[in-house]
Amino acid sequence: MAVPFDWLISGALVIDGTDRPGVHTDVGVRAGRIEAIGDLSGASATRRLEGTGRVLAPGFIDAHTHDDTVVIRAPDMIAKVSQGVTTVIVGNCGISASPVRLTGAPPDPMNLLGDASAFAYPDFASYRRAVDQARPAVNVAALVGHTALRSNHLSDLYRSASAEEITAMRAELRQSLADGALGLSTGLAYATAFAAETDEVKALAAELEAVGGLYATHLRSEFEPVLEAMDEAFDIGRSARAPVIISHLKCAGAGNWGRAGQLLAALEQAAHGHPVGCDCYPYSASSSTLDLKQVTGEYRITITWSTPHPHMGGRDLADIASEWGISQQEAARRLQPAGAIYYGMDENDVQRILAHPLSMVGSDGLPEDPHPHPRLWGAFARVLGHYSRDLALFPLHTAVHKMTGLTAARFGLVDRGRIALGQAADLVLFDPRRIHDVATFLDPCRPAEGIDAVWVNGALAYRPAQPPASSRHGRFLPRAGDLRTTFNSQPNGDLPL
Ligand code: ZN
Ligand code: CU
Repeated sequence: MAVPFDWLISGALVIDGTDRPGVHTDVGVRAGRIEAIGDLSGASATRRLEGTGRVLAPGFIDAHTHDDTVVIRAPDMIAKVSQGVTTVIVGNCGISASPVRLTGAPPDPMNLLGDASAFAYPDFASYRRAVDQARPAVNVAALVGHTALRSNHLSDLYRSASAEEITAMRAELRQSLADGALGLSTGLAYATAFAAETDEVKALAAELEAVGGLYATHLRSEFEPVLEAMDEAFDIGRSARAPVIISHLKCAGAGNWGRAGQLLAALEQAAHGHPVGCDCYPYSASSSTLDLKQVTGEYRITITWSTPHPHMGGRDLADIASEWGISQQEAARRLQPAGAIYYGMDENDVQRILAHPLSMVGSDGLPEDPHPHPRLWGAFARVLGHYSRDLALFPLHTAVHKMTGLTAARFGLVDRGRIALGQAADLVLFDPRRIHDVATFLDPCRPAEGIDAVWVNGALAYRPAQPPASSRHGRFLPRAGDLRTTFNSQPNGDLPL
């Protein structure tokens, strides 16, 4: 008799991640892999789940996270598995947990990853080992942050790097890539990286060419000069023959609203000659550290945390300023270091960018924030429920593709992101009528509704209203090869169509 499956999920609408509509069928899992797809009514299995009325999809890949340290510190990762996420890409926006050797407090915005005690990984290999030891509930793949490299080698982050400093940063990036990093990320809008000239970034990015790593960037500006900032990103990517991902593409600031079409046209044009794409979170408010440049009075800002004034977390900056009898600028200065939510986007722009075929879903959630933006707990469920089902912005199988197959191709996760024979059994079963984000700006740490079960590497990782799984099965995923060959690939599925 045949060896029984470890799991048999029967009768669900299987959406395979390739942007094709789903098919009602059965899926059998054995030894962490998808072993069979089709009518398995006669098969034996150790555990079964009836999926009728549900959708079975590949586990979601969060293309943009700052989960670098939380995957080690709080490896249950409930905020993510509870919305179906099974893999997180860390090290975005120029900030990464490794390789980092701090001499004091982490500079802004590295403090988004925690205080100095969170930075315990002097090289990439030690970070990778720590992830494997912590064995988080989700898989982890990592970029190396430009600002992190700068913090190791520049005594003053508010200037461009010298030739010697660039040489030292390159060596460290090269070693990290050899140890499995996906590529380089930058956060050029932040003051701690803004002084880096294009040539500094190009010099570092040159290390990507030999190994086929990618370049992900929080643009130098998301405000009026956003097109120029996109050009800079494409220029850097082309010079290194490295695929480019524009992080959380948006039109920030009232003067910029309505320009999504222009940005997307620029992205499409660049995509003709070079592998490029973007990630996007499904909200019209952003969140990061409190940036004085963004305090303009044009839109609402709420404070999420403040080191000198912790009790101001959750309050509006305008209210704090009027209570203190000072300007918002002055109040912001007094609150720093601090975190904020900026209600600075137009919903139409968000929808156009989210719906574009070059954009994938990334939460950009901030797990260290005591009053986080709701995207941390809600981004994936919000795309599936609010944007796909309720607003019909795109079909459900396209929503799934933007968080699975598309993302896996871009990051070269060749055995993830699809329901196909031999793929790692990262799976999510959800109710397409009930799925929705529950987390709100007022009450942000609430799990999504409508997720029935999540598997990571073939093991059950989450069921709602049950305590976290007693064992966790996530892995560190090193770069699997040359990302230029997978970035725009569209592998087939094995569904019986
Ligand atoms: Zn960013
Ligand atoms: Cu980010």
